[in-house]
Amino acid sequence: MVPPAATASPSTSQDIPRLGTPDAPAVKDPVKDTILTPRFYTTDFEAMAAMDLRPNEEELEAICEEFRKDYNRHHFVRNETFDGAADKLDPETRKVFVEFLEQSCTSEFSGFLLYKELSRRIKEKNPLLAECFAHMARDEARHAGFLNKSMADFGLQLDLGFLTANKSYTFFKPKFIFYATYLSEKIGYWRYIAIFRHLERHPESKIYPIFNLFENWCQDENRHGDFFDALMKAQPDTVRGFSARLWCRFFLLAVFATMYVRDVARKEFYEALGLDARDYDKYVIAKTNETSARVFPVVLDVDNPKFWQRLERLVTNNAALSAADAAGGPAPLRALRKLPLWAANGLEMAKLFLMAPIRSEQFQPAVR
Ligand SMILES: [Fe+2]
Ligand SMILES: [Fe+2]
Repeated sequence: MVPPAATASPSTSQDIPRLGTPDAPAVKDPVKDTILTPRFYTTDFEAMAAMDLRPNEEELEAICEEFRKDYNRHHFVRNETFDGAADKLDPETRKVFVEFLEQSCTSEFSGFLLYKELSRRIKEKNPLLAECFAHMARDEARHAGFLNKSMADFGLQLDLGFLTANKSYTFFKPKFIFYATYLSEKIGYWRYIAIFRHLERHPESKIYPIFNLFENWCQDENRHGDFFDALMKAQPDTVRGFSARLWCRFFLLAVFATMYVRDVARKEFYEALGLDARDYDKYVIAKTNETSARVFPVVLDVDNPKFWQRLERLVTNNAALSAADAAGGPAPLRALRKLPLWAANGLEMAKLFLMAPIRSEQFQPAVR
C-alpha cells in the first residue's frame, strides 16, 4: 500500500510562527495509533476514475454546483474572542480539550488527504467526481487548519507534513471508502450540530470560542455526506443486495462502537461542556442511524436495549485493557492479561453484528 503523495497541506495561519523557529508552538507528537484513533485511507484510484456516474449524474452535478458556491469561504476567521481564551481553562479541562482538538484535527486532515489525492488522480478521466473531491478537500483543509490554529493557542501544533509521511494508510476498495466516509461525514455533522445546539441553550458551558463556528462548519460535513449518498446511488450495487446489507451493518457498527467507547473513555471533555458523554453519543448514533436509512439498505436496531448493554461491555473491557497497559510489567505478561479481554470484545462485537438489523424501507419509507 503506497501512501498517497501529499501535494499540498492546509494553510496554517500567518500569525503562527513557522515550525522550527524559536517562537513556534511546540510540535505535538501524534498520539499512538490504536483502533480508536482516526485512520488515513487510500483506495483504488483506477476504479474510482472509471466509475460511471450516469445513473445519478444530475444530482451529483447539483451537489457540485453547491460546492462551487463555497458558502463558508469567509466563515473560518479567528476574531478577538480567541484572544486569551485558552488561558482560562483549568489544567484538567485543558488536557482533555487538547486531546479533542488533536483528534478532530487529525480526522479532518485525513479527509483532506484522501479527497485531495482522489481529485488529483482522477482528474483526467472523471472530471465531475474530481471537482467534487477538490471542493471537499478545500473544506477539510480549512477545518484542519482552523483546529491546528486552535491547538497553537494551547502552545501546541500538529506537524501535518510529518503526519502525512508517517501515518500508515489503510487500503479500502472504493465501496468501503464510500461507507466509511459517508458515515464519518454524517456522524461529524450530528456531532458538531449537537454540541452547537447544546451550547446555544447553555452559553455558560462554552469553554472556548471554536464552538461558535460549528453551525456553518457542520453544514460542510452535511454536504459532504450528501455527496457520498448521491455517489452510492450512482453506483447502486454498493447499496443493493445481500453483501451490501452485510457491509453496511458492519460499517455502522464499527463506526458507532468506536465512537461510543472512545467518547465514554474521555467523558471529562463532555462534562466540561455540560454534556453527558453517553447521552450525547446515544443522540448522535440514533440520528446518524436514522440519516443512514436514506441510502443504506439496512440500519441498526439502536432502540433495542441490548445494543447499549453490549456497547457498555465494550467500554468496561476497554477500561480493563487500559488498566492492564498502565500496570506495566513484561510485554508477554501484559498480553496474557489482555487476551481474555480481547476475546470478550470480539464476542460482543460478533453478538452486536448478529443482532437483527432494520430494513431501511421499513424504517424511513417516506424518503426512499
Ligand atoms: Fe470537515
Ligand atoms: Fe467533511
